[in-house]
Amino acid sequence: MVQVNSDYLKLKAGYLFPEISRRIKEFNAKNPDADLIRLGIGDVTEPLPLACREAMKYAIEEMGTQQGFRGYGPEQGYQWLRESIVENDYLTRGCEIKAEEIFVSDGSKCDSSNILDILGKANKIAVTDPVYPVYVDTNVMTGRTGEVNSSGEYDGLSYIPINSDNGFEAAIPKEKFDVIYLCFPNNPTGAVATREQLFSWVKYAKENNSLILFDAAYEAFITDESIPHSIYEIEGSKDCAIEFRSFSKNAGFTGTRCAFTVIPKSLKGKAGAEEVDLWSLWNRRQSTKFNGVSYIVQRGAEAVYSIEGKKQIKKLVSFYMNNAQIIKENLTAAGYEVFGAINAPYAWIKTPKNMSSWDFFDFLLAKANVVGTPGSGFGAAGEGYFRLSAFNSRENVEKAMQRIVKL
Ligand code: MLT
Repeated sequence: MVQVNSDYLKLKAGYLFPEISRRIKEFNAKNPDADLIRLGIGDVTEPLPLACREAMKYAIEEMGTQQGFRGYGPEQGYQWLRESIVENDYLTRGCEIKAEEIFVSDGSKCDSSNILDILGKANKIAVTDPVYPVYVDTNVMTGRTGEVNSSGEYDGLSYIPINSDNGFEAAIPKEKFDVIYLCFPNNPTGAVATREQLFSWVKYAKENNSLILFDAAYEAFITDESIPHSIYEIEGSKDCAIEFRSFSKNAGFTGTRCAFTVIPKSLKGKAGAEEVDLWSLWNRRQSTKFNGVSYIVQRGAEAVYSIEGKKQIKKLVSFYMNNAQIIKENLTAAGYEVFGAINAPYAWIKTPKNMSSWDFFDFLLAKANVVGTPGSGFGAAGEGYFRLSAFNSRENVEKAMQRIVKL
């Protein structure tokens, strides 16, 4: 019989979101008439922006012509999309990123997992706790950890706690880590990092020859103008950071799939004593394992940067951020302690009466028919917290708040 990758057997029962779906299914089977409102997984609900749809329709028609047809595209993404990204996301913020340093992909979840392909197994890795579970699970799957302990931490991974005591700000470690995952605006807590905080991380990474894996999938939701949108706004970061970006949340591409990763050419790693540039390894990885994002979708993503596209995306983002505000205001008025939801589409709520995260999940599901995400699903330090997502229609968000406030 075939041997399986036994590292998968170390994983906790299930990936967080499928586990939530399982519980909802069970609830639905017993309560078929319940009007459930889902503020759990951060999946967008509003239609794709018109500018993106029009660009994609046009691209489909092009593909129906002899001259406009395209087969395999460049693995790194089309030059015109990479140039638009650089011009609009980086040069405008003073970051000297070049188009050749952008790798267009089908998602930040995939990229933040696949990046482990080019990193050695002996690296000492740190994540925050709570954390986006993908970073942890993919380290487990690739044999970079030992077994999980009773509080849900994997041997071999280091966890930096973030909680209300430290303002959800991970302390700069005293010990040396080779790889550190940072996500700002943060999923799940909704916290953001100031320029000074990011500067301290870059300084730490440079002093320790560490690599920062910076997930900026939610940057479009930053409302405070002083908060950096990219790690590359910090001097020196091109020598120590990879950045992941996505069109999923700002432009509603969760089902359409388009994202990108930035690997500066100056970023170096080591193979024994030899210095190797990470850009070349990632390029090699992508050209072997990935055939690029479809031409049609890349044209849709490019339209995000058109004049009309920018207006539509701004409207979309502020629509979700108004939802976030409604959540924060209602729950705060009802006596809940609510974090985040100002520069991020997630509200991070302290559970009432010291309820466990899963108990509060079951309570809200049963009593308000509202689905959220248990904080403990994001790590041991998330216990006693609960995440509500602002990605839903206004009507549903308002209805959900009315129901929760009445409890
Ligand atoms: C979340 O709810 O945390 C996100 O939907 C996860 C993701 O973007 O993969």
